[in-house]
Amino acid sequence: MISFYKNLTQNLTSIIPYVAEFTALNFYSTMKGHPLRDKEKHKRLKKKVISLIEKDLIADAKICSELNFHRPLPGINKIQSHFKTLGLVFLDYNKILQRRSKNDLKTSSTRDYPKYFNRNFHFQTDGYTSEFSASIYDHQVEILFAGLAAPMRRLILEEVSEFKEGNILELACGTGSATEIVANFLPDAKITATDLSHEYISFSKKNRPLRNVEYKQMDATKATGEYDCTFHVFLLHELPTKERNDVLLKQIQSLKVGGKGIIIESLQVSDVDFLNEVLYDFPKYYHEPFFKSYIENSVEKTLESLGAKNIKVTKRLFSKCISFSR
Ligand SMILES: C[S@@+](CC[C@H](N)C(=O)[O-])C[C@H]1O[C@@H](n2cnc3c(N)ncnc32)[C@H](O)[C@@H]1O
Repeated sequence: MISFYKNLTQNLTSIIPYVAEFTALNFYSTMKGHPLRDKEKHKRLKKKVISLIEKDLIADAKICSELNFHRPLPGINKIQSHFKTLGLVFLDYNKILQRRSKNDLKTSSTRDYPKYFNRNFHFQTDGYTSEFSASIYDHQVEILFAGLAAPMRRLILEEVSEFKEGNILELACGTGSATEIVANFLPDAKITATDLSHEYISFSKKNRPLRNVEYKQMDATKATGEYDCTFHVFLLHELPTKERNDVLLKQIQSLKVGGKGIIIESLQVSDVDFLNEVLYDFPKYYHEPFFKSYIENSVEKTLESLGAKNIKVTKRLFSKCISFSR
């Protein structure tokens, strides 16, 4: 009981700074002619969204305490690093606004990345192709989701809990936020965390070293192996249709027979009816070229057509967790 209330208090307090930061950024952005959301729609849906958030933060706190998942309180280092990255996010913001105005979306990376990848996703500086981008990515995501990205990532806990000593492959680990959640929850599991971005992998190795994690650069459309569990978080909406289907196929094929795949992703059309219009709005405010095609093509149906079994869906906040077996 004590741990439930501790988790809930942590959930509620950790969204406060990000809500304030989003409000400040939205105010500045609106003054410059680029609001970050539709004011009228926000007003109309506010009550429903707040009650969804309350209900799901309670659910997250309850599950974390049932699973004995401990989150340390932020120490002085965490607070210092919060303000450091906040400064960098705000300093970088004028470049984002310029990019939005000019529709200037190609990165300057000279690496041989696939064409779809070499772009300024979300208008962010360098897209996923620099360590600077990696250094402010987590903070940008938390501002965008008003501090709710962490509880959405924690949807993975219940599904992954059976792999205490498992051999686990993560696709598209980015800066390792979900990796860290799983690695701390399953200290005896062996996790291979991979991403297409050389720069994000390099950043994660330096900044998120974890005893039971090996970071490796790898394209998820080419994943191989025989793992007990494969997972990815917030990857599919960043991919064109072909690459999205390729990743799902490779994710299934990289499992042992009977192994489990787990996906955490944005809700799709018709998952939560009152949020459909918000989903359609998202790519109007952030450079998300494949988001519309993602929300309109059910991941569950694709998995079924690729032969996945025991498909199960759990929804929380603006995300869902899909698990399946091979
Ligand atoms: C929205 S981020 C999510 C990162 C991380 N999973 C998280 O929870 O923050 C999407 C990630 O997908 C990676 N990515 C995009 N295409 C990829 C591919 N074909 N193979 C592996 N990673 C890819 C990007 O480099 C980026 O790190």
